[in-house]
Amino acid sequence: MGSAQVRIKKKRADIRLAFTTVLSSLVGLSFLAHPAIADEVIQTPTLFKPISEPAFSIMDFGLLIIWICAGIFFIVFGLLIYTIIRYRAKAGDESLEPAQIYGSEQLELAWTITPVLIVIVLGLITAGRIVALDKTTPPEGSLGIRVIGHQWWWELEYDGYDFITANELHIPVDQTAFLTLQSEDVIHSFWVPQLSGKTDLIPNRTNHLWMHPQETGLYVGQCAEYCGTQHAHMLLRVFVHTRADFERWAAEQQQAADQVASVDLGRTTFEQTACVNCHTVRGVTEIGQFGPDLTHLMSRTTIGAGAAANNRENLVAWITNPDHFKPGARMPAMKLNPQQIELVADYLTTLK
Ligand code: CUA
Repeated sequence: MGSAQVRIKKKRADIRLAFTTVLSSLVGLSFLAHPAIADEVIQTPTLFKPISEPAFSIMDFGLLIIWICAGIFFIVFGLLIYTIIRYRAKAGDESLEPAQIYGSEQLELAWTITPVLIVIVLGLITAGRIVALDKTTPPEGSLGIRVIGHQWWWELEYDGYDFITANELHIPVDQTAFLTLQSEDVIHSFWVPQLSGKTDLIPNRTNHLWMHPQETGLYVGQCAEYCGTQHAHMLLRVFVHTRADFERWAAEQQQAADQVASVDLGRTTFEQTACVNCHTVRGVTEIGQFGPDLTHLMSRTTIGAGAAANNRENLVAWITNPDHFKPGARMPAMKLNPQQIELVADYLTTLK
């Protein structure tokens, strides 16, 4: 090997080394960067671990489609690979092209009829599932919940209970939750894939959705219809409880707001500023209907429909400027002075 070739080889090795180093540093950095977002609200909805009908049926059907597609993939690629190997040019083969054949009635019929049959079968199964899953009247013994979509949060009202909450749905295990879906402004879509399929919330129309969870736990979802700048921050959390835990939660939500004496100043500040025009705190002020009910704000794990974890620090940042978490949020920066913000945050953190 000449010295020039050795040099080129060495240069190539250097380039490979540099490339690998840069790549692995980037991967390493991305892991290092991760803890910085650890206390942000991370949620990843999944289709693949259903715990409730209709999600079970949707998952089954999805798997059937995946298997059919996998079958087609292996047949097509199997034939392709077979053809490439079987008909490749052989040593001493003089001709540049194999014999050219035009038209095959059997083949053409086969690849027309087979897809049509597959589409018909899938269409029939889809129609059957839609009919079976569609319920427009609440089944016996179900828990009725009214869900109202807003830009960009969810308002939740429970039948037979006297409270309104937001963004975090609590339901008991092994009971049908029957949701009535409405919208206050534009089209939204309720989607918690482990529990049910997507159903739109459409202005001036009422849609329904139901679920019958089999396991307790937290299941996450989000608005699935583009509804404006903060569509991506219109997240949903569904807590499925045991019957006893659900009753306990509902009983707590029924209570009027705590009135803690040590935060009287904060409550007065809240009552004397524009906060009350949009937010209700039951037992304190009930004028505001535009924004989420804050009576039991601290029983929720997130603020801004999943935009940030619900803690004092984030509440201060939110009140100072909601755009910090959610640019374009309907809540304006209230222009409170730093002392007022601290007082209001003190007060809000007592709304357990
Ligand atoms: Cu609401 Cu997208």
